[in-house]
Amino acid sequence: MSVDHPPDQPADGTPNVAAALLAWYDVHHRSLPWRAPPGAPAPDPYRVWLSEVMLQQTTVAAVRAAYLRFTARWPTVADLAAAADADLMAAWAGLGYYARARNLLACARAVVADHGGRFPDTEAGLRALPGLGAYTAAAVAAIAFGRRAVVVDANVERVVTRLFAIETPLPAARPAIRVAADRLTPPIRAGDFAQAMMDLGATICTARRPACAVCPLRPACAAVRTADPARFPVKAAKAVRPERQGAVWWIERDDAVLLVRRPPTGLLGGMRALPTGAWIDAAPADLPASPPADPPPVQADWTALPGTVTHVFTHFRLTLTVFRAVVIRDIAAELDGMWWPRADLDRAGLPTLFAKAAALALESPQCP
Ligand code: ADE
Repeated sequence: MSVDHPPDQPADGTPNVAAALLAWYDVHHRSLPWRAPPGAPAPDPYRVWLSEVMLQQTTVAAVRAAYLRFTARWPTVADLAAAADADLMAAWAGLGYYARARNLLACARAVVADHGGRFPDTEAGLRALPGLGAYTAAAVAAIAFGRRAVVVDANVERVVTRLFAIETPLPAARPAIRVAADRLTPPIRAGDFAQAMMDLGATICTARRPACAVCPLRPACAAVRTADPARFPVKAAKAVRPERQGAVWWIERDDAVLLVRRPPTGLLGGMRALPTGAWIDAAPADLPASPPADPPPVQADWTALPGTVTHVFTHFRLTLTVFRAVVIRDIAAELDGMWWPRADLDRAGLPTLFAKAAALALESPQCP
């Protein structure tokens, strides 16, 4: 994209912004396991891609361990492509949306099947891979292949809206942010530049208390000349998050608990889970904890455990009541589930929502 008129000009001109930022990055970059140091040969595209997918939904601190675990287990894209779906899904637990894990596998398999196990080396070629979005294509093209690509994540949005004091709230400001980021991106070292913007956003140009006094871009920054630089990016008025409510069924037999696999598509698709009923649109206070909104999956003597499990998804907040029953009959086949040893539940790869429900059940005095 070429730009004639950015929304505003940094005070001392854009070339200086890139140069000042890169000089700062050379000294202050974060050492991260998926990175090459500034100026060193680019890292393995597989590793860059894997880290970028993980970093889209989780903090750098959390990704560090997961990245090392993944690359030890699946050192190449061919190894990942050959992974069993269930193994990958279990390894993804705690890393956010499972759709990303499914896309990760689909992408790895396409790289192996259609590209001889090598990632395409252009932004457009990367963008054509399954599940690989605009951000990831730009990040991998820049970081792994040294291509000039405009990489915009939340850190970059914050830095850019401050540099230019962009008053339009997010998300409406995104096109202007992109234009401004394009203007700032240098023709070489685009990968270092992108990561320098991210590091600046993570360590100096932070959301709440930016350290403007030590910022290498201070001379160019419009926001620092306002009363409150942290006001940028300007936020649109918040929509209230809808509430949903439902039941989760904790069914015990001997020392085991019944787990099911969720349908392959939809929320938490393909993951191991506790059985749940429908999640209905209702605030927690609107419904009594008992009886549940949905009939239980089997006839048994059900007890509502004290407390609830709350989990915030992107589009709604869910409150679940945990109902417990002990059964004698083997109902696993009937419910298309399996018995999992209670003592071994932390190895089931349960997504956080169900791990919380399991923790509530296991801690309940009513579950001896
Ligand atoms: N967030 C997303 N990608 C990143 C990267 N390459 N380095 C640091 N933080 C990131």
